[in-house]
Amino acid sequence: MNDLNVRAITEAERRVVYGLLVEALHAAPPDDATWGKVEGSFPADRKLAAFDGETPVGLTSSFATSIAVPGGKTLPAAAVDGVAVRADHTRRGVVTSLLTEQLRDCLRRGDLIAALHASEATIYGRFGYGAAVLGQSLRIVNARASLRPEAPSSGRVRLLDGDEAITRIPELYRRIGPHRPGMIERPDLWWPAYHNRLVRAGGGEHRVAVHTGPGGEDGFVVFRTSNQQAYDEPDFKVVLEVRDLHAADPAATTDLWRFLIGMDLVAEIRAPARPVDEPLRALLTDARAVQTTGVEDHNWLRLLDAGAALNARTYRDAPPVVLGLEDRLLPENTGAYRISADGVTRTDAPAQLQLTAEALAMLYLGEWTASALAGAGRITVTDPAALPAADELFRVGVRPWCGTYF
Ligand SMILES: CC(C)(COP(=O)(O)OP(=O)(O)OC[C@H]1O[C@@H](n2cnc3c(N)ncnc32)[C@H](O)[C@@H]1OP(=O)(O)O)[C@@H](O)C(=O)NCCC(=O)NCCS
Repeated sequence: MNDLNVRAITEAERRVVYGLLVEALHAAPPDDATWGKVEGSFPADRKLAAFDGETPVGLTSSFATSIAVPGGKTLPAAAVDGVAVRADHTRRGVVTSLLTEQLRDCLRRGDLIAALHASEATIYGRFGYGAAVLGQSLRIVNARASLRPEAPSSGRVRLLDGDEAITRIPELYRRIGPHRPGMIERPDLWWPAYHNRLVRAGGGEHRVAVHTGPGGEDGFVVFRTSNQQAYDEPDFKVVLEVRDLHAADPAATTDLWRFLIGMDLVAEIRAPARPVDEPLRALLTDARAVQTTGVEDHNWLRLLDAGAALNARTYRDAPPVVLGLEDRLLPENTGAYRISADGVTRTDAPAQLQLTAEALAMLYLGEWTASALAGAGRITVTDPAALPAADELFRVGVRPWCGTYF
């Protein structure tokens, strides 16, 4: 517990609160020029701060978005994009007060889900967030990489200049849409920071290419290259880093990879946080030219209105299962839910599988199976027959992915 005051910030408090956020992440507070670039993406709306007297010492921030769930619906969601406590006020319950209040605030606004990327995997489980989406980091050795003859193709790729990219990429992302569970809508206020960080960074350090298919532009990639040694050294090596790659379908995605792999002088491609089912190995003549260098928790979800969120996704055909949920911070979610291919209803029937809000979030998009979570002790099983049924009900064809940093 603490005696701090948690409240929404005012317009006048935005800059000092932004300074608090970046300092907690070990960066310098903004000078006038930096603040000028970021302030458009840092509204007072949806920012709660903890105040010690008049001084803000903790922040939690979100923006309104929508998130795709299995079956194709998109649900109103809060993207939690900043959590920080001043270094001299940590471990006194500040973030606990802030995140608890934020869950209620988002629910009042009609959000069904909250999502975040976590700096550390140990912080958010206690607040009911679960690692609902994994991502993989890929390394491709270009000299060994070529696409198989049957790899699909649907058009061609062209480079854009920076100014064109700033208008084309947001339009393209909107057109491609959140077609995979876990993907979010990128609202207008999200883009200025992206343009500053990627497209304009370092005076054109990043390059942008778009794919045009039979129906028009349908994919893009933002990437940068760096020389690891000088041109005249024997081990001269250029590394290409993929920062953002989205396309409407597998053929357009493959053409973008074909473009990157075919780039002269590039020795290696690194692509962090890609979908875990990205089929690069199946596309290459030498499947070992690509390695997964890491699998990470990519996106954490929190079901705010468990009944509505559970009802919004679809389920496979399998015997119904009764899940018993215990939600410590939003106790109105606590109870039993009967999950079936026809939908979800609250029930008084005894729970066959008992789980926490964190485990439910891990199950929700289909990234984890009920059997795997039960095997890890994260689901308590009272009826073993319910496990294979839950595995089938929640099973998804395409693994979830977010692909947007916030
Ligand atoms: C992470 C951070 C926000 C936690 O804030 P805090 O006010 O110290 O957290 P609280 O005092 O409310 O702690 C709540 C619980 O989480 C635990 N906890 C807090 N930070 C933790 C961490 N980094 N690792 C593991 N446990 C942590 C506390 O021990 C406490 O556990 P308890 O309830 O069992 O006692 C804060 O340390 C911070 O600002 N860190 C740097 C910036 C950062 O990482 N932000 C997150 C960006 S995603």
